[in-house]
Amino acid sequence: MLKVTARAHTNIALIKYWGKADQQLILPANSSVSLTLDRFYADTTVGFTDQPGPDRFVLDGRLQDAAATHRVHAFLDLVRQQAHIHGAARVSSTNHVPNAAGLASSSSAFAALALAASRAAGLSLDPTALSRLARRGSGSATRSIFGGTVIWHRGTDDASSFAEPVTTAPNLDLRMVAILIDAQQKDVSSRNGMARTVATSPYFPVFTATAERDSQAMVAALAAGDLEQIGELTERSALMMHGATLAAQPPFTYFAPATLAAWAVVRAVRAGGLPAYVTMDAGPNVKVLTDATHVDAVVAGLRAQLDNELVVCAPGPAARILTTTEE
Ligand code: PMV
Repeated sequence: MLKVTARAHTNIALIKYWGKADQQLILPANSSVSLTLDRFYADTTVGFTDQPGPDRFVLDGRLQDAAATHRVHAFLDLVRQQAHIHGAARVSSTNHVPNAAGLASSSSAFAALALAASRAAGLSLDPTALSRLARRGSGSATRSIFGGTVIWHRGTDDASSFAEPVTTAPNLDLRMVAILIDAQQKDVSSRNGMARTVATSPYFPVFTATAERDSQAMVAALAAGDLEQIGELTERSALMMHGATLAAQPPFTYFAPATLAAWAVVRAVRAGGLPAYVTMDAGPNVKVLTDATHVDAVVAGLRAQLDNELVVCAPGPAARILTTTEE
């Protein structure tokens, strides 16, 4: 059995994807732009046996039950179809996150799975094809095939919806500080949260039209190295996404009280003259965008007012193969 281990890093969207145009193909309603992070990643090993049968999925050392394996199994079916193979898969995945506070992400998980499984199945996909495959596991995984700053073109069909790297100005060296906040409430999965937002939130059409335009504005701001513009677009996209969930029926939010407290501290740090901009995703953790020149001062400002664990991230690399072994 050919066993392939791949590593993919988590990405955080600066311009958010929050709603699908096609549920089955996972085509997003709008394009999105992200930053891949060095500190959070998944290592995933895949091998295919010669015989059909149930796939086996071990996550962080624990064998997963049929329900938990279902999404991985459906994804592996796509890989088997493309490779014309039928064997059951052996999958083992480890999340590398400094703390388990909701930072293990489906973006790194499905990007690592797409790379490891496609290679183990004998496919040699180029980055665009790999990005399209990863998309079928989880939308945000489309972007984690690439390092640094990345745009996911929404596209109109399977072939045209993929990600690619975005060129940034040479003087721009982004940093993202994760403020870890414990989730108190039960999460609404991103899949269910998006579906409810698309179906019921009157704010959704405004969110998605703005995100489409802001994706292009973000590409221009990254190329120009305009941190203020990058930060303002980032905050607006996050706030509009979370505004859209608040207007859904029934309404829901990923804000915890500590989220708002952290957000206020970031605003205070910015009012003190430092570039520091907030984003957040389908969980209460707050992430602060700044640059290498200012990150130490931003961290000092946050530490002065917050007890939370802080993780400073730099841009991370593209998904890659770590090992290939024949057993
Ligand atoms: O890829 P999913 O289904 O986990 O959705 C990701 C959604 C957000 O992280 C909230 C936004 C984004 O663009 O990554």
